[in-house]
Amino acid sequence: MNTLSLWRGTAAPTAHAPLSGDVTCDVLIIGGGITGVTLADLLAERKAPNPPTVVLLEADEIGCGTTGNSTGNLYETVSSGMREIAAKWGAEVARHVANERRTAVNFVEERCRLLPDVGFRRCDLVEWADRANNEALQKEFEALAAAGCAVERASSVPAPLPPAEGEVIVLRNQAQFQPQAYVVAMARRAAEAGARIHEHSRVLEIDTKARRVKTDSGSVTAREIVMATHSPKGVHLVHTEMPVHREYALAFDWEPGAPPGPGTFWWKANEHLSIRTLQAGDRHYLVCAGQEHKVGIHNATAGLIALENLARKFFGDRPVTHRWSAQNYRGADALPYIGRNHSDCFIATGFSTDGLTWGTVAARLIAAELLGHKSAFADLVRPGRLSPLKGGKNILGENALVVTQLVKDYLTQRQNEKLSELKAGDSAIVDAEGETVAAWRSPAGELYAVSPVCTHVGCRVHWNSVETSWDCPCHGSRFRPDGTVIEGPALAPLKRKHAPALGDGS
Ligand SMILES: Cc1cc2nc3c(=O)[nH]c(=O)nc-3n(C[C@H](O)[C@H](O)[C@H](O)COP(=O)(O)OP(=O)(O)OC[C@H]3O[C@@H](n4cnc5c(N)ncnc54)[C@H](O)[C@@H]3O)c2cc1C
Ligand code: FES
Repeated sequence: MNTLSLWRGTAAPTAHAPLSGDVTCDVLIIGGGITGVTLADLLAERKAPNPPTVVLLEADEIGCGTTGNSTGNLYETVSSGMREIAAKWGAEVARHVANERRTAVNFVEERCRLLPDVGFRRCDLVEWADRANNEALQKEFEALAAAGCAVERASSVPAPLPPAEGEVIVLRNQAQFQPQAYVVAMARRAAEAGARIHEHSRVLEIDTKARRVKTDSGSVTAREIVMATHSPKGVHLVHTEMPVHREYALAFDWEPGAPPGPGTFWWKANEHLSIRTLQAGDRHYLVCAGQEHKVGIHNATAGLIALENLARKFFGDRPVTHRWSAQNYRGADALPYIGRNHSDCFIATGFSTDGLTWGTVAARLIAAELLGHKSAFADLVRPGRLSPLKGGKNILGENALVVTQLVKDYLTQRQNEKLSELKAGDSAIVDAEGETVAAWRSPAGELYAVSPVCTHVGCRVHWNSVETSWDCPCHGSRFRPDGTVIEGPALAPLKRKHAPALGDGS
């Protein structure tokens, strides 16, 4: 299935040459999503005295990670609710969070004034529910007001949105943009200011002591390393704290000017939908996102079909132009992890589905620290802050899931299937010649066989039928059928197995 997102499908292309040779710099940024390119821009615009030299390495193309597969909404609240932060951390911290996020949205707006049109617009964020979830929404209204957000009540939402059966919360003066267009333009701006941006430059090895990383075409030695890779690369304590979920999105053809009009619309019934519109050139689209599931332990095709069926209930039988999905990592105590960690590298993760704003916050905090001005907020979100009273339940739940997964994976019966019998388009984990292999046969008939053991810390990967990938349920690493890493903490590819040696007679 073609899973190119609406944003990646309609933004200008990006073209930065791969890294070539051995380079040294002050700051190396790994990852070209919103966190990485915003940081590159902030550091590169720094003038004398002593502007830092900056290199950014992106494995694939700018924006191709979660940023270019998101929904492009910017807001001062968080999607799981400000009441969760207030309950875990108190009203004062919730107020700090809203302030910090509001400042980040303002920062994006200022940057957009300096960039070509990237679809930035101010709009309301509207949240509503069905009767069963109305009480939670009433509490959310109180929490937002206490956190100093400009929140109001409304009595209804415009059709054809799902009807409101109780509270309707309207948060004024939030924003949205075209996320892929924004990061492409920000990367170009950073490069013009002197940052070296390299696409198709996957970091394959990181030596944190020598402060050197290697790609297949060169190396970078840096005074400081920032892992702006959504989930930090290698083994980090935060991986044991963060549940990883995939969420699905699709875009319908939409009539110009038809309701619901500009706005971020969150329907928080038993099933959630995030809804917005986009104008790209002379075409209009309605975007719906939802159906969040734990990575690697659900049927991805079923997730996408369920989203499409739910969206069609309200928006009718119109053509779907784009379908895509992306994943998110949730902080155990409702806050992200931003700052220097035990390996003396900077990390920025745990953004949940709020990372266009959190990524901007992270870039600003890390840039400030690198330039010698650490803020009080940086202390609140520092990675080593393990707070069992606030996050303990989630951490225990996550670790139990990883252990269950490891045990289940190693005890489950192998599928009794022969590689030579695997049909075009099918996948299976099979025993072949005394080895267990994860195999997929392409529609053209070519067999791809890899080890099913995730190279991060050894869980067993599961097939993702929508995106044709092997996904790891433990910490969210994902691999192409040939074993190369797509995303997540794993650095090394799944080990290739040679089909003829495994008795594939086809
Ligand atoms: C369906 C969905 C919708 C969302 N909608 C919103 C929204 O409306 N608003 C919001 O605020 N948040 C939203 N989010 C969350 C938000 O999109 C992310 O949190 C945010 O984009 C993360 O940005 P990032 O730069 O940290 O990571 P990414 O955008 O994932 O960038 C990381 C980059 O690192 C690169 N990389 C990885 N490994 C390597 C390596 N070894 N070498 C070099 N490069 C590497 C990747 O290729 C990638 O480009 C959504 C998330 C999902 C799943
Ligand atoms: S992602 Fe950690 S074991 Fe696979």
